[in-house]
Amino acid sequence: MNRRLGVLISGRGSNLQSIIDAVRDGRVDARIAVVISNRPAAAGLARAREAGIETVVLSPRGYADRDAYDRAIAETLSAHDVNLVCLAGFMRLVGPSLLTAYADRILNIHPSLLPAFPGLHAQRQALEYGVRISGATVHLVTDELDGGPIVRQAAVPVLDGDTEETLAARILVEEHRIYPEAIQLLLDGGWSVAGRRFVERSQARLRL
Ligand code: GRF
Repeated sequence: MNRRLGVLISGRGSNLQSIIDAVRDGRVDARIAVVISNRPAAAGLARAREAGIETVVLSPRGYADRDAYDRAIAETLSAHDVNLVCLAGFMRLVGPSLLTAYADRILNIHPSLLPAFPGLHAQRQALEYGVRISGATVHLVTDELDGGPIVRQAAVPVLDGDTEETLAARILVEEHRIYPEAIQLLLDGGWSVAGRRFVERSQARLRL
């Protein structure tokens, strides 16, 4: 089946690039149907164009309120027959219209081991708190900020000499590895959500 991804970005787009690369070498069995940015200057747009992917810039300023904006995103995604939405550094909250249109079909990547350090500047929060281990989380998006069922996580050490930048770079390597894995896991199907938990088919089988 021809699966179609929609990727939402706001900036650099390194996670978008990791998805583009994974699609190219077959680790993700899908195509990226559209890349949507809320910012015209997002560097990730150039990455998409270079890969021959259609881009759409939707500036929130053009809409009356958040809901109108979310509906415009949902319409753009459905006009491109998108099955799975990947937030990749998309710096906006996703509202009810988009959540309803793509229930359990929106993934996000966050640079901490959730539920620790949700929200902005997760790497700075981790350094300031003094944790010795941080990492990256891919989760389903719900109405709770950075709070949906966790699909994949990877841990990295926090080193004594770390700055926000060095820690972010170490986490980013893991982000680029686990995001494509999580996308393929969702595309493979057979998973379910039980309360807060994302349950993979293999686990369900083990319980039989
Ligand atoms: C990543 O650290 C991601 O976890 C967070 O925003 C950053 C986006 O980076 N949500 P990029 O645009 O994918 O390079």
